[in-house]
Amino acid sequence: MGSLGVVDDRSETSGQHFDLVVIGGGPGGYGAALYGASAGLDVAVVEFDKIGGTCLHRGCIPAKELLETAAIVRTVQHAGDFGVIVEPKRLDWSTTIERKQAVIDKLAGGVTMLLKNRKVTIFNGRGTLRSDRTVDIAGVDGDSATVTGDAVILASGSVPRTIPGFEPDGTTVVTSDEFFELDRVPDHAVVIGGGAIGCEFASTLADLGAEVTILEALPKILPGCDEDVTRAVLQAFKKRGIEVRTGVSVQGHQPRDGGTTITVGENESIDTELVVVSVGRAPYTEGLFDGSTGVVVGERGHIEVDQFCRTGEPSVWAIGDVIATPQLAHVGFAEAILVVKDLLDESPVPIDYDRVPWAIYCHPEVAFAGLSEQAAKDAGFEVVTSKHRFAGNSRAMIIGDTTGLVKIIAEKAADGNGGRILGVHMVGPWVTEQLSGGYLAVNWEATVDEVAEFIQPHPSLTELFGESVLALTGRSLHG
Ligand code: NAI
Repeated sequence: MGSLGVVDDRSETSGQHFDLVVIGGGPGGYGAALYGASAGLDVAVVEFDKIGGTCLHRGCIPAKELLETAAIVRTVQHAGDFGVIVEPKRLDWSTTIERKQAVIDKLAGGVTMLLKNRKVTIFNGRGTLRSDRTVDIAGVDGDSATVTGDAVILASGSVPRTIPGFEPDGTTVVTSDEFFELDRVPDHAVVIGGGAIGCEFASTLADLGAEVTILEALPKILPGCDEDVTRAVLQAFKKRGIEVRTGVSVQGHQPRDGGTTITVGENESIDTELVVVSVGRAPYTEGLFDGSTGVVVGERGHIEVDQFCRTGEPSVWAIGDVIATPQLAHVGFAEAILVVKDLLDESPVPIDYDRVPWAIYCHPEVAFAGLSEQAAKDAGFEVVTSKHRFAGNSRAMIIGDTTGLVKIIAEKAADGNGGRILGVHMVGPWVTEQLSGGYLAVNWEATVDEVAEFIQPHPSLTELFGESVLALTGRSLHG
């Protein structure tokens, strides 16, 4: 069998039938395999690259790992405020990169081990779905196999979008695919696109010592975020020297020694050492299925599915970035669980995509669940809001990171106070770790009065969430 069927002990896997065949080994795909196997299914995963997908190898994990290096640099810079004198300071980039890779390798090994322990068969090749849930596999070493499944899940993910004239070359122009392989921290970088990826990369580069400019086509950065949150990020970025320019159009660039010159608008030019293109991600369906299946691709390239992630082909589902749902690893996990329950006829509850948790790990961090103030008003709600700043929070002062705020958006109750909580939006220290209370409140459709009963530890950053909810009852402690 050569490189195919690499994980389990079976010597002959071609022609084999599985309960479930998953194409794609990222969070959606390996999540479906693990959850399916834990329910007793005989599962195969087909992956032509590495188990772990974009998230583990070129996305969430390396991005957060480098952001942690950036956080350490900030901590060291402010160590003197605590009376800790750290000299001299120097970034050893090769150690930084080695540590990032060690974290990735450990996690990838862990996932592969989990799959192996659950007797999941991994095929190292490119899978193509044909009719009757038949999957042809072209092995990376030139061999091939064909397997069938009672059920098939398509989880092929997404690839970075690019813009004409800014094709990645891996050194001067990069996307997230190449960013993590950079052999240096540039002196100056231009980040095109001010979404989650753009802001995380800009934040990392700025902390590591680069001068950074974000060029965003729309009037604002961080699409989907509440205005107050975006404003707080903008103010913090400005303070740290990150230039954010919105409503700009990039025309092209002219490479030169040691960098390139970008043309912006009619006749402005910006010299830079590195261009990071982060203008969204496109679903990846190349060679994934042929015309003999009923799988349908929509206008923007996503596979069309219903609320249970079912495609147009019977017993074939699609999950993760390849469908038009939020491109978040944890949404992929949730869809994996939903689909396995659906194929087991366990009547799962469809995912409410308007209330999934969002987490952006730039500094300051952003986390939210549910409607922003504007989105709530646009949806016709009469709302009341409450905002509290970390500047007044004791733990934030202790850790020396007081940027940001917590904002609660609630339906206006008959007495004018807050009723049902519609959205919880946070920006500030470790908010990605603080969202769960707000996430539960929004998803359980809890009221302000109900959540105000809960006690937050003192001193803690989460007190700000408690305080913000309490204020909407019409009374407050500190706020
Ligand atoms: P995005 O869609 O979030 O943001 C892309 C930004 O680029 C938008 O603001 C868009 O207006 C702008 N843009 C598009 N074309 C442009 C142009 N020609 N010039 C200037 N600006 C332009 O996409 P992003 O940041 O690449 O992330 C991709 C996906 O991955 C998103 O769905 C994102 O939410 C998700 N993601 C989530 C993370 C998290 O939750 N921590 C981290 C990274 C990605």
